[in-house]
Amino acid sequence: MSNRSGPSAARGSDARPLSTEMRTHTCGALRRADVGSEVSLVGWVHRRRDHGGVFFVDLRDRYGITQVVTRPEAADAEPARTLGGLHPEDVVRVRGTVQPRPDGMINRERATGEIEVLAREAERLAPAETPPFVIDDETTAGEDLRLEYRYLDLRRPPLQRVLALRHRAAMATRDYLDAHGFLEIETPMLVRPTPEGARDYLVPSREHPGRFYALPQSPQLYKQILMVAGFDRYFQLARCLRDEDLRADRQPEHTQIDLEMSFIGEEDVYALIEGLMSRIFADALGIEIETPFPRLAYDDCMDRYGSDKPDLRAGLEIRDVTATLQGCEFRLFADAAAQGLRVKGLRIPGGAALSRKASDALEAQVQLAGAKGLARAKVRGEALEGGFAKHLDPQRTRRLLSELEAADGDLIGLVVAERMTANRALGRLRARLIAEQAAAQEATDYRFLWVRHFPLFEREEGSERIAPAHHMFTMPLAEDLDRLERDPLAVRAQLYDLVLNGVELGSGSIRIHRRDIQERVMRVVGLDAAAAEKRFGFLLRAFQFGAPPHGGIALGLDRLVMLLAGSASIRDAIAFPKTTSALSLMDGAPGAADARDLADLRIRTLEEPAADGGAPD
Ligand code: AMO
Repeated sequence: MSNRSGPSAARGSDARPLSTEMRTHTCGALRRADVGSEVSLVGWVHRRRDHGGVFFVDLRDRYGITQVVTRPEAADAEPARTLGGLHPEDVVRVRGTVQPRPDGMINRERATGEIEVLAREAERLAPAETPPFVIDDETTAGEDLRLEYRYLDLRRPPLQRVLALRHRAAMATRDYLDAHGFLEIETPMLVRPTPEGARDYLVPSREHPGRFYALPQSPQLYKQILMVAGFDRYFQLARCLRDEDLRADRQPEHTQIDLEMSFIGEEDVYALIEGLMSRIFADALGIEIETPFPRLAYDDCMDRYGSDKPDLRAGLEIRDVTATLQGCEFRLFADAAAQGLRVKGLRIPGGAALSRKASDALEAQVQLAGAKGLARAKVRGEALEGGFAKHLDPQRTRRLLSELEAADGDLIGLVVAERMTANRALGRLRARLIAEQAAAQEATDYRFLWVRHFPLFEREEGSERIAPAHHMFTMPLAEDLDRLERDPLAVRAQLYDLVLNGVELGSGSIRIHRRDIQERVMRVVGLDAAAAEKRFGFLLRAFQFGAPPHGGIALGLDRLVMLLAGSASIRDAIAFPKTTSALSLMDGAPGAADARDLADLRIRTLEEPAADGGAPD
């Protein structure tokens, strides 16, 4: 995690003195101008040093650290006795006088580094056990231990900064959307189970044994119904719950900046969200981002980057070199087009120096994505060497190098496969190359991208069935409507994703508000009128009472904060996250339920929970 301090961090220490009965200032507030003032501070013992009877205590709170010192001539009297007996993380209150630090003792790294507080009185407000890890910017403690003692981990300044960033982002969002006429409206947490999307978290109903609520995966249906109800512009910082396999950027509970608008088109959503992102980046990081964001059709995005969420910081585009290699001496390349295949390539910067093993590891990446192999050749000056180089005449070599923008010292990797397989294979390779460079990348380089016009449907994995790529209520592109029944997989949708540095930050669409189109889409995915009625009857009924054209988007707030903080893990952006196996190590959730509660719910478990799966006693 980065220790970046932006305006949000500064704002904490710039805050008005939090004067109360207990303290006159925070631990981040005092400066040279305060020298001579009588002050009271409260905080946690960050560090304590004993310099021959003179005690130095670094007192820490959310706002910073202030050095407290005792008088050398009073080593065995109060307050030296209290301060001398302190342990890390004890909570103390100190009263004293602000004095300048002697020359040579000034700490330029710290906002309060020019002063110290000479203690006159000290009181230990609460003792602390020895913490299981040191509370500091950096820690070597394992993540499980830090999650178990999350309150201690959260005391560490980097995490304090991340949650302050999160607050800034949320406040900026509310303020911006309010100024744009949006109403914040809450939607239910107990909803009807939906068989779509991820697996639901279910909540048994006591009043109606055998029936279940679900926790909402998103407020999707409610926000559309709010449009039917005439609210025109809705938003919510919505908690969404999904029982799905977790990854680095997924949590079972996440928060969306969820919004919906009536009487709008795609461009309205782009403009609104570009403004929102500008505002959030300005408020949270003091950074001006460039708008409008580039837009790429899904097909082009896959052709150029082999991914629908490419990281644009590295450049590195995939190129189709089928035509250049057609008719060359190497059969694999020469015959590709005739067999309906493409030859696509990527330059691997500096890759000529890779060992055989490292280069084979790159080939393994494309094979994982379904390509047979990665044909390679090294760039030496203006020529190619090794691999397929001998099959190409100089003219073709020059064209190939220029198309791939390859330079001396690069490695060229080519894949021969069906178009999308080649795209995905090289996309995987590209992502790997970028990940390896991540450390070298400028962390404050934010590259946004709209990817739009995704396919409306996709084939369900491992079956012939067709399913909505996003959800059932996404409007097809007008020009593709007549292909709906004829060639459904070729239909594109008014569906867009916001991508930032390789992360899908948000997703949304213009919705279907016409019942005839909705019914056609449902038929394509195999839902007849009765089944549709059973699942979505309430929405379809609402649509019969004058549904305005509408659309919206939801942005993952946790992912946004993760990127704002320059963190690699979504868990850093959440106060109380779960592990990758959906456990809360601090409170032991999920736990075993009380037998009586289960009886009230008419529920019997088939499996006893594992011994360590219960709630802490
Ligand atoms: P979608 O399912 O794409 O769309 O979610 C929108 C955004 O929410 C974030 N997100 C997550 N973040 C953390 N952990 C998760 N498990 C998780 N799942 C999703 C992502 C994602 O882009 N109702 C639609 C939106 C709409 O059409 O308006 C929806 O939920 O950043």
